[in-house]
Amino acid sequence: MAESVSVFPQEKEACYRELHRQLKALLEGESDVTAMLANTAALIQQAFSFHWVGFYLKTNEKELTLGPFQGPVACYRIPRGKGVCGACWETEEVQNVPDVHAFPGHIACSEYTKSELVVPIFVNNTFYGVLDIDSEHPAAFNTLDEAGMQGVAEILGSALWQ
Ligand code: SME
Repeated sequence: MAESVSVFPQEKEACYRELHRQLKALLEGESDVTAMLANTAALIQQAFSFHWVGFYLKTNEKELTLGPFQGPVACYRIPRGKGVCGACWETEEVQNVPDVHAFPGHIACSEYTKSELVVPIFVNNTFYGVLDIDSEHPAAFNTLDEAGMQGVAEILGSALWQ
């Protein structure tokens, strides 16, 4: 059973350190992918209370499919290269979008989303999917968030490679 979750610090760097520590403990000993992704989304949400946090997974060569998430309902499929998530897949790089309305081809799942951070997840050095985070605030994410969420993706990528 997963350990109980403690309160997260307010300060961003400390919050990510605590998030990484708890995530490693949370994923330890579990091998069901859906369960692991669901609890990862829940843990991130407990730490930061974002508008939407979840996963889009590479299910074939053409598109990503909605995975476990926390937040309002979202689109099921995202073609490669489309929207922020599709751009993350195509480039295999973090996409930090301060104003989603200024991003060409942004896929609007919620009218409340103002900024978005999408981080690629690799399992055994192969693109696996993305961690997608939406905020109701413009320019909500800085380099600490990019590094912190890349840390989450790395912990997850290692845990999924078992
Ligand atoms: N806005 C994303 C689509 C997914 S939702 O934000 C949950 C995009 O442009 O890829």
